[in-house]
Amino acid sequence: MPGIPTPTPADHFSFGLWTINWGGQDQFGAATRPPFNAAYCVRKLAELGAWGITFHDDDLIPFGSTPAERDAILKEFKAALDETGIVVEMVTTNTFSHPIFKDGGFTANDRQVRRYGLAKVLHNVDLAAELGAETFVMWGGREGAEYDTSKDYFAALERYREGLDTVAAYIKEKGYGLKIGLEPKPNEPRGDILLPTVGHALAFIAQLEHGDIVGLNPEVGHEQMACLNYTVGIAQALWAGKLFHIDLNGQKSIKYDQDLVFGHGDLLSAFGTVDLLENGFPNGGPRYTGPKHFDYKPSRTESPEDVWVTAAANMEMYLLLRERAIAFRADPLVQEAMAEAKIPDLAVPTLAPGETFASFLSDPANYEDVDVDALGARRAGFVRLNQLAIDYLLGAR
Ligand code: GCO
Ligand code: MN
Ligand code: MN
Repeated sequence: MPGIPTPTPADHFSFGLWTINWGGQDQFGAATRPPFNAAYCVRKLAELGAWGITFHDDDLIPFGSTPAERDAILKEFKAALDETGIVVEMVTTNTFSHPIFKDGGFTANDRQVRRYGLAKVLHNVDLAAELGAETFVMWGGREGAEYDTSKDYFAALERYREGLDTVAAYIKEKGYGLKIGLEPKPNEPRGDILLPTVGHALAFIAQLEHGDIVGLNPEVGHEQMACLNYTVGIAQALWAGKLFHIDLNGQKSIKYDQDLVFGHGDLLSAFGTVDLLENGFPNGGPRYTGPKHFDYKPSRTESPEDVWVTAAANMEMYLLLRERAIAFRADPLVQEAMAEAKIPDLAVPTLAPGETFASFLSDPANYEDVDVDALGARRAGFVRLNQLAIDYLLGAR
C-alpha cells in the first residue's frame, strides 16, 4: 500500500479564495471563523503544495472599495504571488451577493441592473487578463426565478445570450487570451437557475455568436444536486471540446449545495471522475489538461487552523484516487475484463466505410439472419469489471 501522497505544483491544484475564506455563515447561524488575509492564503496554499488560486472580484477587493484601496490590496496580493509562484489561473465575478443582484445580473428584469452587471463583469475581465488568468468563470447563481410568473424566460435567455456574447466579444476585441467557462447549477440561491445542467449550457453555447471561446466549468455537486452523473456530464463536455475548467467537491445526494471535500460525498463517482481525468476515455479521445480546481467549503464546525487540514484533504483525496485509478487501468486483468466487456468494440464505427443504405439493408447478416435470442443472452461482464474497480478503490488490489 502506498503512503499518504504529497501534492506538488506539478499537480496543478488550485483553490477559490472564497472556499478557504468561507466563514461558515448560513441561514441558521453566523460565521464561526473570521476571514484570512488574501496574501496569507496565497502563502498557506503554497506551503501545502497547491499551484493556483482563483477569486471573485469581491473576494479580493471588497465591494465598494476606493481606487486607492483596490491598488493597495492588489499590490499586497501580487507580492505574495511573486514570492510563492502561485498563479491566478481563473477569475470570476460576483453578480449574486449585493442586493442589487437579487434578481440576477444579466437577466434581471430591471435594465439598469443588467447594465450595471455587465459593466462589473467587463471591469473584472480586465483584472483577469492583468493577472494572467486563462479562464473567466461565469456562474449565474441569481440568474433565475422563484416564480414562473415573474420571468419571461424567452426574454431572459435572449438577455443572457446578449450578455455572454458581449463579454466574449470584449475579450476578443481586447486581444485577451481568456476563455469563458459557464458553470451550471440547478437551484440555490434562486428557486430555479437558468442553465441548470451541463447539457443545458452546451445547448446554450451552440446559440452564441462567440461560442468558440465559451465552454464549461462543471461542478461535481451541482450535477449531483440535479440527480445527474458528473462523470457523464464532463464526458459530454469533453466530447464537445468544451471542458475548459472543473470545480471539484463532494455532495451526498440531492439536497442543498454541500460543497464537501472532493471524494467526501459520492466516493465511487469521484473514482469515475478521476479515472476519466487521469486515464482518459478507454478508446482514446480528447483529454482534460486544465487545473484541478477545488470549489468546496470547509465545514462550519472546523476551526481556522483546520481550514488548512480541509484544503489538504481535497488534494490528498485526488492523489489517492489518481493512484488507484492508474493502477486499475494498468492491470492486465482489468484490460482483459474491459476487452471481454467489449469496450474496444464501441470505438468501431457501426457502418463499414463506403457502405450504402442499399448494401446495408440487403445483407441478411445484419437483420434477417441475426440470432436475436443468442445475442440477447450474451455475456456482458460489466459487474465483474466494476468489482475490479472497487477492489482497487478499497486497496484490495
Ligand atoms: C456555488 C458556486 C460558486 C461558483 C463561483 C464561481 O457556490 O454554488 O459553486 O462557488 O463556483 O461563484 O463563480
Ligand atoms: Mn457549489
Ligand atoms: Mn463552483
